[in-house]
Amino acid sequence: MSLENKVVIITGAGSGIGAASAILLAKHGASVIVADLNLKSAKSVANKINIAGGRAFAFQVDVSAFKEVELLIAQAIKNHGKLDVMINNAGIGGENQKKTAEHTLEDWDNVIAVNQTGVFYCMKVALGHMMKQGYGNIINMASLAGLKPSGYNLSYSASKFAVVGMTKSAALEYGRKNIRINAVCPGYTHSALLDKLLASRPDMSDTLKQLIPMDRFGDADEIAEAVLWLASDKSKYVTGQTITLDGGMSLL
Ligand SMILES: NC(=O)c1ccc[n+]([C@@H]2O[C@H](COP(=O)([O-])OP(=O)(O)OC[C@H]3O[C@@H](n4cnc5c(N)ncnc54)[C@H](O)[C@@H]3O)[C@@H](O)[C@H]2O)c1
Repeated sequence: MSLENKVVIITGAGSGIGAASAILLAKHGASVIVADLNLKSAKSVANKINIAGGRAFAFQVDVSAFKEVELLIAQAIKNHGKLDVMINNAGIGGENQKKTAEHTLEDWDNVIAVNQTGVFYCMKVALGHMMKQGYGNIINMASLAGLKPSGYNLSYSASKFAVVGMTKSAALEYGRKNIRINAVCPGYTHSALLDKLLASRPDMSDTLKQLIPMDRFGDADEIAEAVLWLASDKSKYVTGQTITLDGGMSLL
């Protein structure tokens, strides 16, 4: 699957699924802007790609700050002349194991700002440039939590349902403009985000695996394969869809 000559921005690419996607897409020829709140981890991923012979550029961004998103995308266009694929992957887990009435206002605001408003900002700015260039491809990282209820983490659930909704609604608007917009919905996947959850509740590992027909968590590399396919022209007739990679968890 060639991504030769494609310019790709991945947010939250300093860790987990974003990092695995950056490495895989670069291996397939893409020039990747590794964007993350954590510049050190973004640089480390970009270095790894460059040492392996790929092309990657680290960039610090907070996706919940509109001006920073504008700067990220403007710089990419200035340096590379175009933006083929925008991958809105940055996300945070929020407080776990709290019922809705106990959920803090602060957690709600933080999670919605990054997971939901951040995706809106990135889509809004990327779409403006993609409309000018006459084509584009956007991939949003949603979650199984955006397709079915998952108790005790309302802000996260709300934000991921919103990402699925924004993906489908915007795909409807931009199909005729040669811009595709899809979402990836991972189930439980090994990453800093999942490790944090399991560290706070080690007993949850076995409990969660019992909910997964394939009896294991996913790997970030496995999620990256779906990102690669959506980023490539192999999926050129696909828009407004969610691709679920969850070891069968959505079946239950
Ligand atoms: N790991 C899972 O089980 C799982 C399941 C479903 C969906 N997801 C989603 O996948 C995406 C990636 O998560 P992950 O599991 O790889 O987590 P991760 O914590 O390993 O990586 C998330 C990255 O996003 C960055 N980030 C956080 N806030 C940011 C901000 N405001 N601006 C820019 N970057 C920011 C972090 O620095 C980090 O590098 C998230 O959207 C997450 O909700 C993860």
